[in-house]
Amino acid sequence: MGTLELPFHQPSLSALESQYLLEALEDQYWGGGQWVERVEAALEQLYQRHVVVVNSGTSALHLLLTLLVERGDEVIVPTWTFTATASAVVHAGGVPVLADVNPSLHLSAEAIEALITPQTRGVIVVHYGGVPAPLEEIQKICEHYHLWLVEDACHAVPAWYKGKLCGTFGIAATLSFHATKPIAAGQGGAIIFSEKDYAERARLLRRNGIRRLSNQPWLYEVEALGWNYMLSDFQAAVALAQIERMQETWSQRLRLALQYTEALATFPELEPYPCHDPNTVAWHLYPVFWRGTTADRRDLLLQRLWRRGIRLGVHYKPLHLHPAYKPYIREKQQFPTANQAFQEIFSLPLWPDMPLDAVDQLLCLLREEIKSI
Ligand SMILES: Cc1ncc(COP(=O)(O)O)c(C=O)c1O
Repeated sequence: MGTLELPFHQPSLSALESQYLLEALEDQYWGGGQWVERVEAALEQLYQRHVVVVNSGTSALHLLLTLLVERGDEVIVPTWTFTATASAVVHAGGVPVLADVNPSLHLSAEAIEALITPQTRGVIVVHYGGVPAPLEEIQKICEHYHLWLVEDACHAVPAWYKGKLCGTFGIAATLSFHATKPIAAGQGGAIIFSEKDYAERARLLRRNGIRRLSNQPWLYEVEALGWNYMLSDFQAAVALAQIERMQETWSQRLRLALQYTEALATFPELEPYPCHDPNTVAWHLYPVFWRGTTADRRDLLLQRLWRRGIRLGVHYKPLHLHPAYKPYIREKQQFPTANQAFQEIFSLPLWPDMPLDAVDQLLCLLREEIKSI
């Protein structure tokens, strides 16, 4: 029985990450200092917006939502996402309203409109896998109902919708620098704000609401009750190198994605996740559908492949199927598209330095196992 040692993900390490990390160590500051500022400056240059760096994508969502949500406010989120998109709403005092998704596993204007009540204040859109969500129709519906729009762009660095960078469409967007993400720093995250006042408030709250007194810098005042959501300079140094190498690692991801798509054209059992233009996608994930199967058969396939060294994943088991989200399901609410996709979907490995020939080797083993199930 053939095996293939292939991790699901591996961050891309070059001499630049090592150099910056060593420099940050040798600076002997080690808190969140000049390296954090350099990451903010680099992202501000990229997005042309105000950027506040924090210590995870989860913290970014939480901190942002504390600025936007009042107790009891409803926020519409896709059921097809990572838990932090919705749990952050709860931690900020709001109520997440889970929406079913369209066939490309994104929110749609139709799904949003059906869930709006007098308590609805905003929408969080997720660019699943790095494929832009239908932003134009979502923006229109938000404007029509006076709702704010946040982009959870944790997968979408970089991705473009109609030529414009994802992360620049709503009132704010969030990024993650988790080890598996396109900008990987171990942990980390950022909030991209359209409004400077929000960014300044977030900057205060991420460091326990502390403001240093300019005329007595040895003293500080606690101006608001915040959190310690600071990123350390070590992580920021790695993040900065990754941002500077983003074009290179994105091109590597794109090349692998094109290779998968080409190889899958002769693999009728598996259908690639739909995208209109591969050049606009961040390629954080490469999901495929095994059409007509069940979650049990899909899990058997993944179990067999794990035994052969290939660690495939499922993104996602939708939120409404998790016990913690039971209280947030409305009476008689149905999620037919997400339920169907959860039966059939799994993600193939895709990371910048993954060897191109691993694609064919992997698909060969996959085909062998699918035929035997
Ligand atoms: C869509 C989405 N949002 C938010 C997060 C949270 O990011 P982090 O792991 O950096 O807290 C993730 C992480 O996987 C994610 O995939």
